[in-house]
Amino acid sequence: MTSPISTPAPSTTTHAHTRTADEAASQQWWRDAVVYQVYPRSFADADGDGMGDLPGVTAHLPYLRDLGVDAIWLSPFYTSPQHDGGYDVADYTDVDPRFGSLADADEMIARAHELGLKVVVDIVPNHSSSDHVLFQQALAAAPGSPERDMYMFAEGRGENGELPPNNWTSIFHGPAWTRITEADGAPGQWYLHIFDTSQPDWNWKNPRVHELMQDVLRFWLDRGADGFRVDVAHGMVKPEGLPDATVNAEGLIDIPEGEVPVYFDNDGVLDIYREWRPILDSYEGDRMMVLEAWIPEHRLPLYIGDEKAHQSFNFGFLQARWGVETMRAAIEKPLALADAVGSPTTWVLSNHDVIRHASRYGFAPDHRFGEGLARDEVPDAELGLRRARAATLLMLSLPGSAYLYQGEELGLPEVSDIPDELREDPAHLRAGVPGRDGCRVPLPWVQDAPAYGFSSTGESWLPQPAEFGPLAVDQQLGVDGSVLEMYRSALHLRRKLQLGVQSEAAGVVFAQTAPDGVLVLDRGDLRVVVNTTSAPVPLAEVTDDQGYEVLLRSVPTGPDGAEQVAADSALWMRLTR
Ligand code: NOJ
Repeated sequence: MTSPISTPAPSTTTHAHTRTADEAASQQWWRDAVVYQVYPRSFADADGDGMGDLPGVTAHLPYLRDLGVDAIWLSPFYTSPQHDGGYDVADYTDVDPRFGSLADADEMIARAHELGLKVVVDIVPNHSSSDHVLFQQALAAAPGSPERDMYMFAEGRGENGELPPNNWTSIFHGPAWTRITEADGAPGQWYLHIFDTSQPDWNWKNPRVHELMQDVLRFWLDRGADGFRVDVAHGMVKPEGLPDATVNAEGLIDIPEGEVPVYFDNDGVLDIYREWRPILDSYEGDRMMVLEAWIPEHRLPLYIGDEKAHQSFNFGFLQARWGVETMRAAIEKPLALADAVGSPTTWVLSNHDVIRHASRYGFAPDHRFGEGLARDEVPDAELGLRRARAATLLMLSLPGSAYLYQGEELGLPEVSDIPDELREDPAHLRAGVPGRDGCRVPLPWVQDAPAYGFSSTGESWLPQPAEFGPLAVDQQLGVDGSVLEMYRSALHLRRKLQLGVQSEAAGVVFAQTAPDGVLVLDRGDLRVVVNTTSAPVPLAEVTDDQGYEVLLRSVPTGPDGAEQVAADSALWMRLTR
């Protein structure tokens, strides 16, 4: 049953952060930017070795400019053995030869700037690669030495130190400690790795670690980086005494709903951002940092602010189930928090760690969003893509910055049939879970080209499925109703209508009443309608008897559908009142 919609004016849920004179004077670009995440291994391969590279990124920057994004964020392209796709950094101030050279990085940054695109680079401060020269030196040095003190080494428990120092487990499954063999061949100390064995955690109690990472920031700021995406931004400082975590009946670390494991979100982490902020502020331009911090919402104000980090990913929207109440809550909460911290929220639906949203929405709502898909987990692909398109239109209508993940603008699905022997995600190798490779398959650019135009030689470090062909850029560009054209239109309209900007006049106002299963929100005279039901809804039921002009639909509609909001779809309309 539907009920008529009423005029939304007296809503109590207006979120209008009034801009101060300072903000108005200097419109900090990141506050309303659309940032496109490039996963360098899988974006474009210029040298034909089957792995993407920086020259490949540079060559395709005009595509991103034309798409309508404001900035790119690149996952790590630094020297790395690639045990965790580059999030295992062996040298923070050099480019891995697979991705090119420092000169290629300079060229990419310069070209992006020429095209008006900002460049955000990744920084990985919680851990390095075990190949890092300082970890190798720590292994070679004696327990208690300054070299060991750069990382989290500890004596084991048990009679002969044969048990790990505590019961922590790795995010990638299995123990979070590995025992080493000392120089004399005897079993020795243990080192902490919250992630893979090849990713030892830095010891942030050591001032030398602080200095090292500050130098890394300066290195990339000097080369023109406009900002940093901070990896595991809530992880660096561990609790005093490294206490055991409480475990549940299955012997796994017990993490109550809404909380984080004991090794995350410790207050010492906050000091790091207070140290970093003046460094960023000492450079011209609005250099920024966005935190990858999976923290309880109420902790966010501790991380974000004028003397702290600029913003943090808001993963609540990504995790929100398809439905009016869930999505509305996932919008209201971060907007209220943004008001509280004085920094706009961020929106994100996909990234290189989660199941692509075109597939995610094709499952029952309680399906997990991480650790990839197994071959026998088959989503309703058509429904998933329809809902993904609608969720994207909803996201792009909201104030704050939005982060897009490469390939979502093509509607790429998660790939579930990658042969196990080709999977590289350490979580797969450690625990046999499908892992995140399925969202990292190289992009299709041209349907009738080797590796769909990803690489001239036809090489591709992960096989691309046949279903990628029709989704290639050349098949969608200029094609009315394609996913790519929906993104391009939405991004251009978002910029034109300044939808990313929080303002008194265009706060988010939810309709007090709307047809069942339909989310209706206004931004000034723009009305956004999301029909989460499986039946079309007449436009007359969501227009309050006002004049309107439909600006954009998430799915094309035939003549029959012109006066409807199609099932599982969204639209933007201008109310003419
Ligand atoms: C978060 C990154 O996004 C993920 O890809 C990586 O595996 C972990 N941090 C560890 O660096």
